[in-house]
Amino acid sequence: MRTYIYPGTFDPPTNGHMDVARRAARLCDRLIIAVLPNRNKKTVFSVDERVEMVRKSLPDLPEVEVTCFQGLLADFYRQVDASAVVRGSRSESDFRLEAEMAVANRLLNTRFETIFLLSRIELSFTSSSIVREVASYGGDISGMVPAEISTEILERLSTGDKQS
Ligand code: PNS
Repeated sequence: MRTYIYPGTFDPPTNGHMDVARRAARLCDRLIIAVLPNRNKKTVFSVDERVEMVRKSLPDLPEVEVTCFQGLLADFYRQVDASAVVRGSRSESDFRLEAEMAVANRLLNTRFETIFLLSRIELSFTSSSIVREVASYGGDISGMVPAEISTEILERLSTGDKQS
C-alpha cells in the first residue's frame, strides 16, 4: 500500500496544485492532501477553509483524503506510514528551497522520501500569492483556480478596487 502525502499551505489552492494532486493520485494507492502550517507565511484563509477549498476542488476524486496537521511534516509522515511526500517544483529557485526541505525532512526521519512532480507548463507559474494579488483587485482568476472555489476567493479578497 503506497501512501503519498501532498502537503502545502494552499492559501488558496490553485489549478497548479490540483494538477500536481491529480498526477500524484495516479501514482499511489492512497493520497492524503495535508494543509500544514508554514511559519514563514501569514495566511488569509483559515485552516478549515483551506481544507474545504481543496476538497471542493477535487469533486472527481472523492477517494483523495484532505486533512490538516499542526506540526512537523516528518511526524505526520510517520503517523500515516507514508511512502513519500509529493511536491510540485515550478522553477530552479523553487527547487533549491524544496531540496533544503527534503534534506531537513530526511534528517528528521531517515525513511522520508520526496518526489517532485512538474505541473502542466501553462500552470507552472501560477502561485497562491499571484492569485491573492489579482483577486485583491477584483481581477479575473478563473484561469488560475478551480471553478468550484473562484467566487469564494474573489468575494473574500476583492477590496472593491478595480485595476484601471
Ligand atoms: O505550500 P508551501 O507553503 O510551499 O508548503 C510548505 C509546507 C507547509 C509543506 C512546509 O512549510 C511544511 O512542511 N510545514 C510543516 C512544518 C515542518 O515540517 N517544517 C519543516 C520543513 S523542513
